[in-house]
Amino acid sequence: MCGIIGAIANTNVVPVLLEGLLRLEYRGYDSAGLVVTNKGLERVRTTGRVTELSKLVVQQKTQGFAGIAHTRWATHGVPSERNAHPHFSGQDSKIAVVHNGIIENHEAIRSNLKDKGFEFLSDTDTEVIAHLIAFNLQQETDLFKAVCLSLAELQGAYAIAVMEEDHPERIIVARNGAPLLIGVGKDGNYVASDTSALLQATRSIIYLEEGDVAELSNDGYRIVNCLHNRLGDPVQRAVHESTLSNEAIELGPYAHYMQKEIFEQPSAVANTLEMVLNAQSISPNLFGSEAEKIFSKTSKILILACGTSYHAGLVARYWLETVAGMSCNVEIASEYRYRDPIADPNTLVIGISQSGETADTLAALNYAKKLGHQYSLAICNVPESALIRQTDLRFLTRAGPEIGVASTKAFTTQLASLLLLTVTLAKMHKKLSADDEKKVIAALRHLPVALQHALQVEPQVKIWAKSFAQKRHALFLGRGVHYPIAMEGALKLKEISYIHAEAYAAGELKHGPLALVDSEMPIVAIAPNDQLLGKLKSNLQEVHARGGELYVFADADSQIAESEGLHVIRLAEHAGLLSPILHTIPLQLLAYHVSLVKGTDVDKPRNLAKAVTVE
Ligand code: F6R
Repeated sequence: MCGIIGAIANTNVVPVLLEGLLRLEYRGYDSAGLVVTNKGLERVRTTGRVTELSKLVVQQKTQGFAGIAHTRWATHGVPSERNAHPHFSGQDSKIAVVHNGIIENHEAIRSNLKDKGFEFLSDTDTEVIAHLIAFNLQQETDLFKAVCLSLAELQGAYAIAVMEEDHPERIIVARNGAPLLIGVGKDGNYVASDTSALLQATRSIIYLEEGDVAELSNDGYRIVNCLHNRLGDPVQRAVHESTLSNEAIELGPYAHYMQKEIFEQPSAVANTLEMVLNAQSISPNLFGSEAEKIFSKTSKILILACGTSYHAGLVARYWLETVAGMSCNVEIASEYRYRDPIADPNTLVIGISQSGETADTLAALNYAKKLGHQYSLAICNVPESALIRQTDLRFLTRAGPEIGVASTKAFTTQLASLLLLTVTLAKMHKKLSADDEKKVIAALRHLPVALQHALQVEPQVKIWAKSFAQKRHALFLGRGVHYPIAMEGALKLKEISYIHAEAYAAGELKHGPLALVDSEMPIVAIAPNDQLLGKLKSNLQEVHARGGELYVFADADSQIAESEGLHVIRLAEHAGLLSPILHTIPLQLLAYHVSLVKGTDVDKPRNLAKAVTVE
C-alpha cells in the first residue's frame, strides 16, 4: 500500500527515484509523484503510473541532489493529482512529505490545524503530517526535532520521508507500523519501502524498527528511537548486506511477473523445503529453537490470515485434522480481530502472510495474544517483516520476491510449509510412524518435479482460456481439501480477469447455486482421484444434466471421460497429500491466460495493491 523512495547523493537522484518507484509500483499504482531540491522544492505529480511521471520529469527537465518520491494506493481521497504525494506545507520554507500507511486521528489534527490557519489542499490524511511538522517548526527550528514532536501526536501506522526547502542537505524519515529501510551507499544515502528499490544504489541495508526516526545526508546518517522519548534516544542499527539477486526482481524472459512467479514454483518450493529434502527425518527446530517445547504443549491450532494466505490455512486444516489428529480453526484475520473468541493457552496461533505486513493479520495476531493465547508461529515470505518479528516461532517460505499482485508462488510455498508443519506435529504427537515420515519426506522430495509436470498443462489451459474470456461469471467446485483450492482458483480469476467467480463445496450446489447453472455459466471442477471423487462425479452429473458447461481438472486416474459439454484436462496420477498443491497450478494458469485474452493488467489489477498495510 504505497511505496516510498528517497535519495540524497552527490549526483542527480531523479533516475534513482524513478527506478525505485518502478520497483515499488506493486505496492500501489493509482498516482505517483516526486519532489527534488533544485533552487527550492520542485514537485511533479500525476494520476498515471510511474511511466507517466517519468515522461513529465523528462519534459520538465527535473533534476536535484536530494529527493523523495511516492507511488500511491488511495485510501483517503480519490486518485487525483491533488491527492498524489508529496504533500506540501509552509510558506517561507516549504515542507514536503511522502507517506505510506494511515493516520487514524487525522480528522482531529486537521480541525486543530485549520483553527490555527493552515489551509488544506487535498483530501488525504498525509497532508496533516506536513502541516503538523510545519506548525512544530514554528516553535522548534530544527526539522529533525519538529518531526519527532509531530510523530508523538500521530496515531496509526506510517512510514514517512520529509524534506525542507531551506535545508536541502537532509532527508528525515520515520517508521511506525509500515516498512522502511535505509540504504547506505558510497556516494549517497537512500530510503525505501523495500530492498528491491534500493539494490540499484546499494546492497548495504538498515531495517528501521518501530519508533525509529533517521536523518540522512549525502555522507552519513543518524538514527534515534522515539518510543520512550519524544525527542528520541540515539540507537545503532546493524547494516546488513542484501543477498537478493537482480534476477529475483527482474522479469527476465517473461512477459509478466505473474507468469514468472507461476513458473518459478518448482524452484520456490525446492528452496522452501531445502532443509528437509536432504534430511532423513523432520526436526521441529526448522520452526525455531523453541519449537520442540511449544509444539509439545500444542493441542489445537488457530490460523489467522487474509485472502490467498487464508486459503492456504483452509487447506492446512484438512491436513492437520487428518494427519496430525489436531483440531484446527481457520479465521479471516479482519473478522477475528473484532469478535470475542475464547482463548486457549494450548492453542498455537499461526499467522500466514506473504508480505508479513498485512495490517489485519498483524492486528489479529496481537489480539489473539491479548486474549490469552500464549504461543505464535509466523509462516511468511519476507524475513524482515513485522510478522516475523512478533511471533515466538517462524518458518520462512523462501519463494523469493513476489511482485505480481496476484499471489501464486507464495501460496504453493505456504502449502509446502504447512504440510511440513503438519507432519512435524504429527510426529511429535505420535501420529506418524517412522515409515510414514520417510514416505512424506520422499513425497516432498518429489514435489518440485511434480510441479514442473503440472505446469505442462499450459497449452491445454490456453485453449480453454479463449472460451472463458467471453464469459461474465464462473463457478468453481471442489470437495474436501480441494474446496479451498477451488476458492483460490475463483479468487485468481476474479482478481486479474474481472470475471465474477464463486467457489462452492460441490455438495452445496443443490442447496442453492444450482439455480445459476445454464449454458452461459462455465463450471470449473477439481476432480482428483481421492475418496470424494465418487461424490463429486454425482455433483458434476447434476450440473451436466442442467446444460452447464463443465471444465474438469482431473487426475490421470480419475476416470472422467470427455463428452459434449464436459471438457477434461488431466494432471499426473493422484498425488495424495500433495494433490491440492498440484491442482493449484492449472487454476493459476487459467486465470493468467484468461487475463491475457481479455487484455487486463495481469500484474497490476485495478483497485488492488500488494501488501495491504492498511485496515
Ligand atoms: C490474492 C492476494 C491477496 C493476499 C492477501 C494477504 O492473490 O494476493 O488475497 O493473499 O492480501 O496478503 P499477505 O499474504 O501478504 O498477508
